[in-house]
Amino acid sequence: MAYMFLNGKLIERTKGKIDVEDRGFQFGDGIYEVIAVYGGRPFALSDHLDRLFESAKKIYMEIPYSKKELEDGIHRLLHVDKREHCYIYIQVSRGISPRNHIIPQRISGTVIIYLLDPIREKENWKRRGIKAAITEDIRWLRCDIKTTSLLGNVLVKQKAVEKQASEAILHREQRVTEGSSSNVWIVKDGLLRTHPADQFILNGITRKQILAISKQQRIPYVEQSFTVDELLGADEVFITSTTMEVTPVVEVDEVKINEGKPGLLTKKLQWLLEREIQSQCFDDASPFSLK
Ligand SMILES: Cc1ncc(COP(=O)(O)O)c(C=O)c1O
Repeated sequence: MAYMFLNGKLIERTKGKIDVEDRGFQFGDGIYEVIAVYGGRPFALSDHLDRLFESAKKIYMEIPYSKKELEDGIHRLLHVDKREHCYIYIQVSRGISPRNHIIPQRISGTVIIYLLDPIREKENWKRRGIKAAITEDIRWLRCDIKTTSLLGNVLVKQKAVEKQASEAILHREQRVTEGSSSNVWIVKDGLLRTHPADQFILNGITRKQILAISKQQRIPYVEQSFTVDELLGADEVFITSTTMEVTPVVEVDEVKINEGKPGLLTKKLQWLLEREIQSQCFDDASPFSLK
């Protein structure tokens, strides 16, 4: 049986009910996190909870629980729903109030936590790489907030799917921002490059891990945006996210990257991230831990 937390109560997932006037439902007025679980243990949990509270602050919302209470809830859920590899979905919407755009005062947020299954194709995509489609970034100007208002992301992903691609790589004018649900990286002449963490992208937790790993390993990198032409002329391209980890991009529109094969640095970073996951979720004592 699958369980969920709804406002602090552990219930069967099918029994969860949310009011039609919940602002998450009517306005997309909410925030969320997706956290990977390996070996039954959450990866980078405190980074995800920090980002959840930062997102809340940016939309003037109070989360009705402390980080510690959310952490305890997550561990209880993992205890009853025993799964080795899955994802924790945590969403906080502003709560229930008669429909009106104005932010209501003194209402309590609706908090749900439940577990998601891994993407079926993940391992295959990680090994062989994916095809991506270049698409205009039609989203708003606060992409740094991890909000449940995801219609822009949904529409660009759909465009990619219509082109038989697995991810949309987005651009504003000539500048590449990020993917519809991932951060985008290029490698050119040994230099790793990704968009700076400003309001045009989500500052991914996996992005943060890769930057920390690169620093530790002395892999040269810059947080600097690149153009669509630079993307197409890159030696290697890859995306990062909680659900896709480090996934090579081997074709962008009709252009093959690295002759259609995952690049060497991409594979190295894939392995280094797996090692970090191993050290955080399987063997605490590892000297390689970034924590
Ligand atoms: C738009 C967007 N950018 C980047 C990411 C990657 O973030 P993370 O590594 O924290 O999963 C995501 C993840 O869902 C996303 O939706």
